[in-house]
Amino acid sequence: MNTKLIAPSMLAADFGNLQRDTEMVNNSDADWFHIDIMDGHFVPNISYGMPVIAAIKKHATKPLDVHLMIEQPERYIEEFAKVGADIITVHYESTVHLHRTLRQIKDAGCKAGIVLNITTPINVLEDILPECYMILLMSINPGFGGQKFEEVTYQRIKKLRQMIDAQGLDTRIEIDGGVTDKNIEKLVAAGADTFVAGSHVFKSDDPTDTIAHLKTLANQ
Ligand code: DX5
Ligand code: ZN
Repeated sequence: MNTKLIAPSMLAADFGNLQRDTEMVNNSDADWFHIDIMDGHFVPNISYGMPVIAAIKKHATKPLDVHLMIEQPERYIEEFAKVGADIITVHYESTVHLHRTLRQIKDAGCKAGIVLNITTPINVLEDILPECYMILLMSINPGFGGQKFEEVTYQRIKKLRQMIDAQGLDTRIEIDGGVTDKNIEKLVAAGADTFVAGSHVFKSDDPTDTIAHLKTLANQ
């Protein structure tokens, strides 16, 4: 079983205090920075781009987990690697030649993963799984933080866990959207091991404490 990791989503950080919030994550029990990139085409929202990633990277002492919600992500992989991405995940729904895109991510020196929207069947991963460091299952419709967790996620995790185990792999299962201290234990029980949390962390009174609590619950 993989160790459980917590990846606070910087989408919910205070961009006027980016260095402060980056250092908060550095000094917390968090494992990665989750970086949400939205292009206004693949999802109906625009987040931030290369200069902001570079600004976070300048202060970050933990890996950057870059989640690309953009059409044809293959156009920008090398640039994301250059500004500091350590892990890059691309949506199954966003690129035609997924196998080539994953190779491109690895050739750029990063770990590669695939993201599935809520209604994309788990079984599309069957043949490509050995190429993936991680699978990110969306537990909301991508585009915005602060949305309600979709319950269908539990059965999707179980299916993916079975597929990973059947192939004898140690692929990470990351969950993104509406993760809180109320559902993280159930997500672990279903078979997930990596957790993004945006608003639950940054809108709390004590983000450092909230991260520590999530980490403790996940590792019980
Ligand atoms: C949404 C992003 C998420 C988002 C999660 O498209 O992929 O990473 O920041 O935010 P919360 O944890 O608030 O649901
Ligand atoms: Zn994300």
